[in-house]
Amino acid sequence: MSSIVLFGPPGAGKGTQATAIMEKTGLPQVSTGDMLRAALSKGTDLGLKAKEYMEAGKLVPDELILLLIEERLKEEDAENGVLFDGFPRTILQAESLAKITEVSMVISIEVPDENIVERIVGRRMDSKTGEIYHIKFRPAPHEIKHRLTQRKDDTEETVRSRLNAYHTQTAPLADFYEDLGILKKINGDQDIVDVTNSIIELLV
Ligand code: AP5
Repeated sequence: MSSIVLFGPPGAGKGTQATAIMEKTGLPQVSTGDMLRAALSKGTDLGLKAKEYMEAGKLVPDELILLLIEERLKEEDAENGVLFDGFPRTILQAESLAKITEVSMVISIEVPDENIVERIVGRRMDSKTGEIYHIKFRPAPHEIKHRLTQRKDDTEETVRSRLNAYHTQTAPLADFYEDLGILKKINGDQDIVDVTNSIIELLV
């Protein structure tokens, strides 16, 4: 069993690129952000505990995230590894992950901070399929525009706090994985399709 980690700041394009990686590797996507949002919309205990952190753009406590991951990795489709998206995000999460599964590659999508706010504030989601669009960089087809939604934490104010959490708590993980020799850096400041092609080259 060997997993891949998609790493990068908020709005780097992790969710956008996950589809191509899943198609190429057959690994299922495990997005802690998506799992937390699902828990929140179901009103579970975990979702309610996570809510205030997510809305403030702060990281949800490690113990809650690790419980979520341990449960997810017990599922049958995770037997041969998964594609982690947005996890791990702290050194403690990375160390805990190393004890439960092998990570073969960490794909770091690098995007300058000045691009992030525009990407996040312009992001829209198809409420039916979960497909990710952008009002400028990836406009949705006209016929689905009525069902586009915006994430509650995709505001300019919250994204600044998410970026701060990224720089202080998550970015240090790059060194952690560089030391293990498995960090692969990708220029995320190019067209979506060019980012995809750069990632696919890593996977062949
Ligand atoms: P999460 O859902 O993981 O959010 P995030 O890390 O902030 O990442 P995003 O989903 O915002 O960005 P993305 O990189 O997937 O970008 P996307 O492809 O959508 O986490 C949300 C919250 O949950 C956290 O703040 C925290 O509270 C909590 N949480 C989650 N995991 C946690 C953990 N492990 N520990 C603790 N707390 C946790 O792209 C963004 C936009 O840009 C889209 O509109 C897209 O169309 C566009 N775009 C993508 N690529 C390009 C490109 N190359 N050029 C132009 N536009 C592009």
